Amino acid sequence: MSSRLDDARPKPAPPQEVRPQEVLPQQVPAGTPHLRPALHYTARDTWLNDPNGLVFYRGMYHLYYQNNPYGNVWGNMSWGHATSTDLVRWTEQPVAIACDDAEDIYSGSIVVDHANSSGFGSAENPPLVAIYTSAFKPGAAHEGTQAQSLAYSNDAGMTWTKFAGNPVLTRGSTNFRDPKVFSYAGPHGLCWVMAAVEAGEQKVVFYRSTDLRVWELASEFGPANAAGGEWECPDIFPLSVDGDPDRTKWVLVVNINPGAVAGGSGGQYFVGDFDGFTFTPDPSSLLDSPVYGTSGAGAEAGRLRECRWLDWGRDYYAAVSFSNVPDGRRLMVGWLSNWDYANSLPTFPWRSGMSLVREVSLETVDGRPALVQTPILPPLDNVHCLDSRELCGTLALPEILPGTAQVIDAEILPGASDRCGFRLWEDADGGAAVLAYDPAAGVLSLDRTNAGNAAFHPAFASVESAAVALEDGLLTLRIVVDHCSVEVFAQGGKVVLTDLVFPLPGDFGVSVFNDGGDAIIRTLSVSTFI
Ligand code: FRU
Repeated sequence: MSSRLDDARPKPAPPQEVRPQEVLPQQVPAGTPHLRPALHYTARDTWLNDPNGLVFYRGMYHLYYQNNPYGNVWGNMSWGHATSTDLVRWTEQPVAIACDDAEDIYSGSIVVDHANSSGFGSAENPPLVAIYTSAFKPGAAHEGTQAQSLAYSNDAGMTWTKFAGNPVLTRGSTNFRDPKVFSYAGPHGLCWVMAAVEAGEQKVVFYRSTDLRVWELASEFGPANAAGGEWECPDIFPLSVDGDPDRTKWVLVVNINPGAVAGGSGGQYFVGDFDGFTFTPDPSSLLDSPVYGTSGAGAEAGRLRECRWLDWGRDYYAAVSFSNVPDGRRLMVGWLSNWDYANSLPTFPWRSGMSLVREVSLETVDGRPALVQTPILPPLDNVHCLDSRELCGTLALPEILPGTAQVIDAEILPGASDRCGFRLWEDADGGAAVLAYDPAAGVLSLDRTNAGNAAFHPAFASVESAAVALEDGLLTLRIVVDHCSVEVFAQGGKVVLTDLVFPLPGDFGVSVFNDGGDAIIRTLSVSTFI
């Protein structure tokens, strides 16, 4: 990986140099309960980054994650653990797989080994098998390299044992990591497929196995599309197009840091086919040549915008999907942060949280299959509805009550307005995070430069934007405002924008506004969650 310092240097560094504990000065040692999310998972008092080993098993969703059990900056990487039955309320569990003198436990995945192909369990009690990256420490046998290792659980994911034969897959590489394993049913029967990355070469490498212990190289994919940073945390899964079971496409997710569209970390995806060995992208999913620019500015900016992004905001990274979810549902979670400033987020004692879980599907948009994302939320209650009306200027909405999250659902006809949208976390001095739609440009933007604490890190203040086409003149938004984050799902989830915002205590105001000619609010409701 590149440096874990708060910067976006793209150069790969050897593992012994990637343990930075330096952060900008802690600005909030007294604690920040007003920033603790209500609907998003955070660890009680420690650091977290990537979601790992997402799996559904025996009625329980398991969220493992990159965790520093001893602090609130990146380091001592281990797998933390949380469980949920509804994907919204999570219970923190003891650390699942801990680092030791020989290795840090980097990102990876978990499979339910139903047939006990690995031999770690029994047919009656199939093991859960975690495939994780060992980042070997100085003095360890594989010192300086990253390789893939196994751990297994015989008690439905609550306790884990590292396999004595680790690592099971090495390439002698310093940047080989983040294995995502799934079972593939092909003409040769069932086998396991692993997608991992050679991060510094912008490659996804595919391997195959029958027992999770012995792996053979199948193919490589990349560099392609956004390639201005390290490729990390890949995922690949099939989805039907427009709900038609006879039309299946494969989605290959490749997270990239830096080099994402909004700057720093982000997730891109490709749509194509997979035959158990090789991923072949659809031509409509591929640019002529990779984009090596590292941010949304400069000559390559336009081409970066042509790549397909899971999210157009700054703070949705390392997104991967759950395995073993019934009914073919595909559920994804991302880390609500960006390596540009992650170690400096002004929260205490925890640092970083997870996104809402998002159900993803493939729909034909502009003639090609595209990911559409729907957030999983608890049932809406305390709903405040506004009658349909013309909007001229600013209209105050219910304030954000301390300790609660808000979901705003709106259908707006921007009509002749120059700009319309929402002001979130308004303060007494006119500051706010501004979500605005410009109908002439067809662009939705999110500006956090003048909201709460945007000065804790020089790379934080920013304006994000995405092209959003009106549908029959209508803009449809679902906005989830939860203490220190906003996730915006536009046009039913065809475009998503996620940003962190750090309001000061008391920045509770919310309003809907338009500038220029009139707009019409067709529907608007605000729901409050405790
Ligand atoms: C992504 C990442 C992974 C790595 C992990 C280490 O954010 O860099 O590639 O496995 O974090 O914490």
